[in-house]
Amino acid sequence: MPTSADFQDRMLSLGLARVSEAAALASARLIGKGDEKAADQAAVNAMRTQLNMLDIAGVVVIGEGERDEAPMLYIGEEVGTGNGPGVDIALDPLEGTTLTAKDMPNALTVIAMGPRGSMLHAPDTYMDKLAIGPGYATGVVTLDMTPGERVKALAAAKGCAVADITVCILERPRHEDMIAEVRATGAAIRLITDGDVAGVMHCADPQTGIDMYMGAGGAPEGVLAAAALKCMGGQMYGRLLFRNDDERGRAAKAGITDFDRIYTRDEMVTEDVIFAATGVTGGTILPGVKREPGWLTTETLIMRSKTGSVRRINYRTPVAQD
Ligand code: FBP
Repeated sequence: MPTSADFQDRMLSLGLARVSEAAALASARLIGKGDEKAADQAAVNAMRTQLNMLDIAGVVVIGEGERDEAPMLYIGEEVGTGNGPGVDIALDPLEGTTLTAKDMPNALTVIAMGPRGSMLHAPDTYMDKLAIGPGYATGVVTLDMTPGERVKALAAAKGCAVADITVCILERPRHEDMIAEVRATGAAIRLITDGDVAGVMHCADPQTGIDMYMGAGGAPEGVLAAAALKCMGGQMYGRLLFRNDDERGRAAKAGITDFDRIYTRDEMVTEDVIFAATGVTGGTILPGVKREPGWLTTETLIMRSKTGSVRRINYRTPVAQD
């Protein structure tokens, strides 16, 4: 019987890249076609097919939704051949369905894998998120601080003026007060319309110019972002947000008892994991799928938290000409 102790992250990382690539290639033909559902479905189908070829006894812990809502890659679905280590999988076959449908930047396919029990079973609710890159003392910014306090604390820790801090925030009406408060400090804001996994990852990559991510987005995406930051370095905090009893019920079903708990990155992802993401539309973290006559090319980021290693794999595959 395979166990979590057999989690061969080194060997599995290339397999994970294939899974991520396949989802990106499948959704690429729907870039800019205005059909979010079709783009997502194409990514789901391809990701599931590839996952089922891997020698793992996998369980989807972050997936497309609950079993009665999502026929494929639902929470609890067993994936893989069954001949291999017991692993937990967090995935978002297309993170940025609207970005893909509208051909806007930073749509990604995302998947993380770790030993059984390594990832928070986050319900499909919102999560209040806060993230910064590596190199700061633990707790230099916290979810309990106001947005303005966070900006000032980070600027002091970075040794720069507040005006030199850039915060990434999802552009949503629910964030109007947060945006106004950050603006009042003099800091810059990069507003994104979707895709907060990439938003959080930006903090750990100095080339993006983003210092901090804050705001409410999907809780499943929060766990995926925590997995990415565990590989890249950086701090992240998340607190589940509930709008109604149905959402509280979902959390209870996922085994959550303390509804006010603030999770750190390492409480959302408790053991070493591997993480893969492939660009669908081009962005600051990854280029998108490149389409040339007869060929498709992808770029995939593969990271292992155990070693901190980061690989970028280019994959070029022939396609039948129309
Ligand atoms: P989808 O690709 O599933 O549409 O998610 C995109 C996304 O922007 C996430 O990155 C983010 O966590 C969430 O949606 C925010 O939710 P909402 O659009 O309800 O504000």
